[in-house]
Amino acid sequence: MTAMTDEIVQYSGPERVFSGVQPTGNLHLGNYLGALKKFVTLQDSHDCLFCVVDLHAITMPYDAGQMKNNTRQIAAAFLAAGLKPDRAVIFAQSSVSAHTELCWYFNCVARMGWLERMTQFKDKAGKDKERASVGIFDYPVLQAADILAYKATHVPVGEDQKQHLELSRDIADRFNREFNAPGFFPLPEPLIKGPGARIMSLKDGSKKMSKSDPSDLSRINLTDDADTMARKIKKAKTDPEPLPASMDELSERPEARNLVGIYAALKGCEDQAVLDEFSGQGFGAFKPALAEVVIESLAPVTKQYNEWLAEPDAIDEVLAKGGEQAAAIANPVVAEVRDIIGFWRKG
Ligand code: AMP
Ligand code: TRP
Repeated sequence: MTAMTDEIVQYSGPERVFSGVQPTGNLHLGNYLGALKKFVTLQDSHDCLFCVVDLHAITMPYDAGQMKNNTRQIAAAFLAAGLKPDRAVIFAQSSVSAHTELCWYFNCVARMGWLERMTQFKDKAGKDKERASVGIFDYPVLQAADILAYKATHVPVGEDQKQHLELSRDIADRFNREFNAPGFFPLPEPLIKGPGARIMSLKDGSKKMSKSDPSDLSRINLTDDADTMARKIKKAKTDPEPLPASMDELSERPEARNLVGIYAALKGCEDQAVLDEFSGQGFGAFKPALAEVVIESLAPVTKQYNEWLAEPDAIDEVLAKGGEQAAAIANPVVAEVRDIIGFWRKG
């Protein structure tokens, strides 16, 4: 290895967007607002790659017999949300070997201390760290490889991925310095801000809406029918107070704030605009209005999702073509990385 350089040379390559979603369980309103909806907007302005991260999914117990279909389901959700295969590359992570190869190189750049600080590892490993897989520890390094194999500059994700994105930046920066390759990798920027970055559980305003919450009433799934969505909103936890005139007054009312946030995110307006319309009214009036907006926004997505799922061959075609396009971008990057690291190759 050569001496570290302090020279700051900015990455000057083209802008590119990358994001990934794990093929684990049903997608919900949080995934839709925090991720999918943003992906769809970005495909019009940027080169984009959207990946079903199946390699990440095997870091936790999973069912091998279900994996293929789970991957197709996420691809179907991407397509149903409005991603177009002629505008964005849609593919499965395991079909492009550059991810695992670059992950190994990054394993030798990342530091144990950096990974030990990752809150998601601490949450997932639980109390018994000794029994956690090495894969779950290494998860964020693979995530950095996903992004940097494409020299992606922007990564749309929900708030929960902020720390992982900081690690990706640290790995890119350290690689550039350690191998004296200033500006080789971009320092990828998270795109988190905006409505829907952190949608909370319908049952507890202090917990994020999650695939893994044991209560199905805590989330709106993209597969729920209209009646189920309406029933879940009706049963959502709230308080007896009417909606106030300003968001400041909702600071101690997390459930109410969450519902207002969902309404605003789906309508594409500010939270304040929702209060301007509903202040003084109770949840008896607000919840049916919210249910209507949720159903109106998600019904077309659910419909298209089911239509795609009925055509697994069409999904496979999208994934196969996407895999080839992705490999064509990532393989030359990884070949350059091998040269930078200094490996032998036939001259
Ligand atoms: P995951 O289901 O954990 O693979 O997440 C897929 C994407 O959805 C990631 O970008 C997450 O940050 C985002 N996401 C997951 N849960 C939420 C939530 N409750 N609110 C907003 N975004 C979320
Ligand atoms: N860790 C992300 C999540 O749980 C999924 C992911 C894997 C990802 N690789 C990525 C997101 C690269 C953005 C970019 O949601």
